[in-house]
Amino acid sequence: MPARRHSWAEPWKIKMVEPIRMLTQAERSVAIRDAGYNTFLLRSDDVYIDLLTDSGTSAMSDHQWAGLMVGDEAYAGSRSFYHLCDAVADVYGYPELVPTHQGRGAEHILSQILITPGDVVPGNMYFTTTKFHQELAGGRFVDVIIDEAHQPHVAHPFKGNIDLGKLAAVVDEVGADRIPYVSFETNVNMAGGQPVSMANLREVYEFCHERGILVMLDATRALENAYFIQQRETGYRDHSIRRILSEICSYSDGATVSSKKDNLVNIGGFLALRDPELARRARAMLVAFEGLHTYGGMAGRDMEALARGIREMVDTDDHVRTRVGQVEYLGNQIRDAGVPIVEPVGGHGVFLDASGICDHLPPQQLRAQALAAAIYEDAGVRAMERGVVSAGRDPVTGDHHYPKLELVRLTVPRRVYTQSHMDVTAESVISVYERRTEVPGLRFTYEPESLRFFQARFEPVN
Ligand code: F0G
Repeated sequence: MPARRHSWAEPWKIKMVEPIRMLTQAERSVAIRDAGYNTFLLRSDDVYIDLLTDSGTSAMSDHQWAGLMVGDEAYAGSRSFYHLCDAVADVYGYPELVPTHQGRGAEHILSQILITPGDVVPGNMYFTTTKFHQELAGGRFVDVIIDEAHQPHVAHPFKGNIDLGKLAAVVDEVGADRIPYVSFETNVNMAGGQPVSMANLREVYEFCHERGILVMLDATRALENAYFIQQRETGYRDHSIRRILSEICSYSDGATVSSKKDNLVNIGGFLALRDPELARRARAMLVAFEGLHTYGGMAGRDMEALARGIREMVDTDDHVRTRVGQVEYLGNQIRDAGVPIVEPVGGHGVFLDASGICDHLPPQQLRAQALAAAIYEDAGVRAMERGVVSAGRDPVTGDHHYPKLELVRLTVPRRVYTQSHMDVTAESVISVYERRTEVPGLRFTYEPESLRFFQARFEPVN
């Protein structure tokens, strides 16, 4: 039997640091009040440990920083663009690359070239910007994720899976010719960073291909998904992360990627495709909305750092193991103290079950928003609401949507914080949990019409 390692450490050491400071309790109370109890409206200078998002918040390596200096800023035919094409082809396996300024740029182009008004796009739980672009192009999103994804305390190894029965029912109802593609997200963000299995990817791809339906991945967090396949799916223990990632992509016709996550850069993204004709149509749109086809929305240096980030993320399996391991470390501490969280712990963050924690508040008092504000006030840790405020209102009835998942997301940036930062975070969350009945409910004082979670303001009820 191989020796078991009980501890793990990051496969890097720290060369540069950025100072942070913790405000006093009184200062934090003022800061969150001035921010209208919305963590999006806090100044980052007032935040001690910033777990708002893992998007664009990663630390780059020395090799990536060096890449910034040698990026080729040519308007057309940049050398850095070709480095990026090679990296995407080598690591993800797609021959056609369409660079964009970030993930939603790729979602926009893909939706516009494939969706005709009246089409239906099945997907495994929505993501805000993905669904927005599908609807902007005239499509209708239908959720075909397995039921377990909506149940925070049900432990299923692959909660991101598509329910083939639900998918078949949609195809029967609207016909394959009204379904341009299935939108298949890896490591589903809104479900809590939950993976899809290789078996499910394969099944969905075969099902779709028999019916002439394309499969488009949201491969934004496919690396983290590859790790869960390696750990949880029979037959993959001895496969490298690199090999698993390329197998994931082999069951698709293309992918949109926000490079601000797995790819270890602060800005960037791409649409990758197999079909040269589709890629030609995407490039024709790209020049109008993003930029020339050899830079999309990125500077040459951004593409150089991105090309290097893509290779680096699969260079050793230790990178993703310590990344997800750090998230698990945080999640285990919080769960072991009895705080209800989404199970199992996901790839990019720990999702607190605000409905379970703040059950002294009625749902109208915005439990997750209230909990996120209380966590900031306790020790300066910034989290994000993912519940009723994010879900918005029903356009027909005007009522709040009350999603089954009312969550607070503690999202861990890559290579940024240490285990001690995770300890402080866990202590703070646990201490708020112990005093949870004192967390005041919130009500809106300002409510934007769309994507309200970004700029809404609140006040405590009493
Ligand atoms: N797809 C997924 C799964 C995402 O999580 C995001 C962004 C996007 C697409 C859009 O990419 O931001 O580069 O335009 N998620 C961020 C988050 C905002 O905090 O989860 P983008």
